[in-house]
Amino acid sequence: MNNIILIGFMGCGKSTIAREIAKKLDLKVIEMDSEIEREESRSISDIFAEDGEGYFRSLETSFLERAQGKRNKIISTGGGIVTVEDNIPLLHNIGTVVFLQADVDHIMKNVKGDTKRPLLQTEDVEEKITSMLEIREPLYMGAADVIIQASGKTIESIVDEVIAIL
Ligand code: S3P
Repeated sequence: MNNIILIGFMGCGKSTIAREIAKKLDLKVIEMDSEIEREESRSISDIFAEDGEGYFRSLETSFLERAQGKRNKIISTGGGIVTVEDNIPLLHNIGTVVFLQADVDHIMKNVKGDTKRPLLQTEDVEEKITSMLEIREPLYMGAADVIIQASGKTIESIVDEVIAIL
């Protein structure tokens, strides 16, 4: 099977949905953020604080380069994966790129009170999400092979929609 790669904004549900698909199909899930944290032996927040976002982005690209050739995996990416142009062909080489599209309300519900995402540690989180989404939405659209609307749907129905494209 071609790998499935989930892309989308923070809090759209990538990790949860990846885990559920993997469970249903008895496949392995790769959660990029967790893998990067494991490889670096420190949290994403610490990587951002100690070495900056640019360094974190280079770790993401390096991870994608090393993921070439993997098979039968459900891969959950970090929300900023599409912000580096070189990542797009790497994503397509790895598998089918599925964009989980979510609106600001959906995202806000999932990231409320979150302290682990350095880019959302700001006073007006909703305003920050809105402005970041404006920039990123076209990037997700451009990178996607398939677009799945996540807002207003249950995890179960999103999982079924992803499985239907396999
Ligand atoms: C980021 C998203 C995060 C994580 C990092 C940066 C982003 O992953 O990679 O905090 O730039 O959107 P999630 O999308 O899993 O929250």
